[in-house]
Amino acid sequence: MKQTTATTTDLAQAFEAHFANAPEGRVSAPGRVNLIGEFTDYNQGFVLPAAINFRTTVLFSCRDDKQFRVCSLNFPAEMDRFDIDQPLAKGHLQWGNYIRAVVFVLQRAGYQFGGLNVLIQGNVPLGAGLSSSAALEVAVAGAISKAFDLGISKRDLALFGQQAENDFMDCQCGIMDQLVSATGQANAALLIDCESLAIRPVTIPEQLTMVVIDSNHPHSLVDTEYNQRRIDCELAAAAMGVPSLRHGSPELLAAHRATLTEQQYKRARHVITENTRVHNTVQALADNDMASLRQQLAASHNSLRDDFQVTVPATDGLVEICTTALAGRGAVRMTGGGFGGAIIALCTAPDVAVIRAAVAAEYTQRFQLTATVYECRADQGYDG
Ligand code: GLA
Repeated sequence: MKQTTATTTDLAQAFEAHFANAPEGRVSAPGRVNLIGEFTDYNQGFVLPAAINFRTTVLFSCRDDKQFRVCSLNFPAEMDRFDIDQPLAKGHLQWGNYIRAVVFVLQRAGYQFGGLNVLIQGNVPLGAGLSSSAALEVAVAGAISKAFDLGISKRDLALFGQQAENDFMDCQCGIMDQLVSATGQANAALLIDCESLAIRPVTIPEQLTMVVIDSNHPHSLVDTEYNQRRIDCELAAAAMGVPSLRHGSPELLAAHRATLTEQQYKRARHVITENTRVHNTVQALADNDMASLRQQLAASHNSLRDDFQVTVPATDGLVEICTTALAGRGAVRMTGGGFGGAIIALCTAPDVAVIRAAVAAEYTQRFQLTATVYECRADQGYDG
């Protein structure tokens, strides 16, 4: 992917150069980082993500035919085009398929719309665990809604984004990424109840920086493993006689231990304990209690490593390196979909340099990989 830093005028000019007309509108949606509450969303539990200051912008103009013409400044040599009156299937461009996926779910829901010229530009790093795909889905759904006056709410933009993943991209993800991308707030994380979709902003103490460190560990079989975890959780919930693990408890889990496989037991134990850690973290942030925050994030990481088994040596190693360097300050754990991806460290501004130095000194030497460090702040969600 090409990293671009186009200004407003550059983008409009690029649009005119591609489509020979001026853009009629513009929307944007951010990536996200999850503070805590991992793999709890598709178990109808609790999550605590923040939208971040890395965004995907979409410019558009309506066409008088039924064609979608889509280009991205991040992939300058490529363009996708498709006819929305024809049955939609995946095309040859991976990024283009997200636009097709959004069109597919909106049409399936009965929305009527015409053709669109679309220009995309984003600075959410791809494959870094910062939800560049959710940002793209929410922004594209928003652009179509705005272009054709469909009046789709932010919450529904998120739900359509999730459906695009589930029903077109074959990734059985939960609602967290799309919902925080659509509804995020500056300076706050969102406590989301993934059953009711109720949202409560939780202020992030001013002195805390969110540092995201991408392990750059190559992903493989990620979707398959991700989807398999979801199946394990659903089987565990069914065996425990609850509609979802959200309704599990340590006592219920203990009572059903004999009916669960060892693996289902561990997956369920992660989800049940992680929901409690989300609430403890909300409290720790409200009290500015760094010791508790550190404890919650560390316990979450260990549970993801030992029970949910979605970490890899490189992300475990990054957590170790940062935890040691912070010497009893800050809070660290893996974040996002796992199997590589990123870790998050919550720390003060001076400690960002401490983390950078420790990662530079140790990570490559230990894992023969180069990590990328992103300093993030909580930003507003969908803007359209
Ligand atoms: C990915 C998915 C989310 C969520 C996380 C893990 O980011 O898209 O729905 O399940 O993994 O918490």
